[in-house]
This record gives sequence, structure tokens and C-alpha cells, in this order.
Amino acid sequence: MKQRLRVGLLLMVMLGLMSCGKKQEPDPGSSTEKKEGIVIGLSFDSLAIERWQKDRDTFIAEAEKLGATCVFQDANGDARKQNEQCDLLLSQGVDVLVIVPKSATAAARAVQNANAAGVPVLSYDRLILNSKPDLYISFDNVRVGRMQAEYLSSRKQGRYFLLGGAPDDNNAHLFRQGQMEVLQPLIDQGKIDVIGQQWCEGWSPNKAREIMENVLVSVGTEMDVLLASNDGTAGGAIQALRQQGLAGKVLVSGQDADLQACKRILEGTQSMTVYKPLKTLATRAAQVAVELAEGKEIASTQTVNNGAIDVPSVLLDPVMVDKDNLEEVIVGDGFHSKEDLGL
Ligand code: BGC
Repeated sequence: MKQRLRVGLLLMVMLGLMSCGKKQEPDPGSSTEKKEGIVIGLSFDSLAIERWQKDRDTFIAEAEKLGATCVFQDANGDARKQNEQCDLLLSQGVDVLVIVPKSATAAARAVQNANAAGVPVLSYDRLILNSKPDLYISFDNVRVGRMQAEYLSSRKQGRYFLLGGAPDDNNAHLFRQGQMEVLQPLIDQGKIDVIGQQWCEGWSPNKAREIMENVLVSVGTEMDVLLASNDGTAGGAIQALRQQGLAGKVLVSGQDADLQACKRILEGTQSMTVYKPLKTLATRAAQVAVELAEGKEIASTQTVNNGAIDVPSVLLDPVMVDKDNLEEVIVGDGFHSKEDLGL
């Protein structure tokens, strides 16, 4: 039985590594040694947005440095598929499960199944609700939302459209919470008029463009500020603004410091982004994933309630970026090169 599990696991490791892309080609010479070590099951909502590829690559590189092997699964934005993939990883005997949940609530099932199998779970970047993950590692996401709203409202008040993220992602609500902490007093004072708001299913840039096209038709083109919660949706919406000659006139926020967003900031069609040092997040996550697999206690300074428990949490600091500090922060931290940014 154990032997069958091991063979299955090795197969999964190889398949997983293949799906990780060229960099993670299995090394036949070291596979025997690796299968005796810690195996980390990595389940991502999607790789569609630039950042997640960096998260994955950095995580895997650090885990391998620590002697662990990663089996990677991409759910392609499908919550049901993600739970099936998590079950598969559990059935293959992974030592720890690292999940970027598509749905904050649906992924609770994967956590329950992992708990039942005695496999620790790390909730990566997004919190899984109503369940018992062992650790949540992310950024201070309420602060991200506050940074976006503070930047915009200190430059322009007036007519605001609020473009939220995926409604089933807990982060989308944390960003909105932070945004409203800043905006609500200004709304109450009559300085800001929210002309509309909408969530954007799957954080899809295409849907964001459609939403903005419809808004510009139904509400009109009189808009001062577009509060977009991330760069992908900002990019989609800016396409719609561009069609109406409004790109660069309407202030637009974002988050992630995607390469295209950084270029838009330099050209002036996006006002700001929030940089989140992914290398620190992914490296730290890989280290704690190995420690969880080894049954070690993880030192965390805070907890976040997820509806079921106070989840031990590690929340890192985000950084506000606009055209004045883009080069210093983004190039300085090695996130994008001067060349890639066209500087
Ligand atoms: C992340 C953002 C990301 C978004 C879409 C959020 O949960 O915190 O960094 O842009 O998901 O993938």
C-alpha cells in the first residue's frame, strides 16, 4: 500500500513538475532522493494574472532549496476543480497543502479534508473562510485598499466609480473595507459622489472592460476617479476609458505592480499601483510550509478570524507606487528591470 502511494506520489510529482513549466523539469538523477523528502501540494486558483507565476516560481525555488518537492495544480478559475485537485493531492500523500483559493468559502471543503487526513494547510495570500487552516500568509489587505483610496481622494474628489474584485475572494472585501474607511467620511461630507459600483467576477480584465463600457454608456462619461482594486481590472477598464478619450483624464488605481500597469503609470493612463513584495511572501510561505510539514509550531504575531477560528497569520506590508517612486521601488527591488519598463 505504502509502495503504491509512493509510486503514485512520484508520478504526481513528475506531472506536477511538468505543469510547472520548463524551469521545473524533473531531474532524473535526484528523483529517488527527493521522493523521500517533504512533498508540498500547491493548489492555485489560476495563473492568468502575472503575479501568480512569480508566486509559484519563487515558492518552488525556495522549497527546492530546502530539499522539498512541489506538486503544482492550477484550477483555472474553477472552485470545484480546485477541490478535486486538492483531494487528489491529499490522496497522493502530500505532507502539506498550500492553497490560493478561488472561492473563500468553497475551499473550506479542501481544508476539512486535509484536516481529516492530518495534513496541515497554508492559506496563501487569500483567507479560506469557515474552516481550520493552520496558517494564513498574506499582506495587510485592508491597508492596500486604504492606500488606493487615500492616493486618489487626496488628489481628486467628485464622481467615483468603484470597481471591486472577485466577490468570492475574501481579499476583494478587505480591499473594499480599507477603501471605504477612507471614502465614507468624504462621501458623508458630500465631497465624493459614488456614481456606481460593481464586483468583477474572477478578477477578469475583459469583464472589467465590459463593465466600464456599460457604465460609460448608462451613467455617462462624467467620471473623475475609477477606484479599481487591482491592475488587471484597471487595465481592462482603461481600455474602455481610452475608447472614449478618457484615459489619462480619469484617475485610476490598481495593485500588483504588473509590468503593463507600471508602463501605464509611466505613460500616465493609470495613477498608482500597490506593490506587494511577492518574493518575500512566497519565500516565507515556502519556509513555513516546510516547517508545517515537519510538525513545527509557526511563530505568528497575529491572528485573523475566518468565521470558524482565529487563524494564526503573517501579514506583510504593501508599498504605494506612483510615477514618482516607481523606478526606486520597482526597479530597486528587482521586481521589473529598467529595460522591461522601457526606462
Ligand atoms: C490578490 C491580488 C490579485 C487578485 C487577482 C487577490 O486576491 O491579492 O494581488 O490581483 O487576487 O488575482
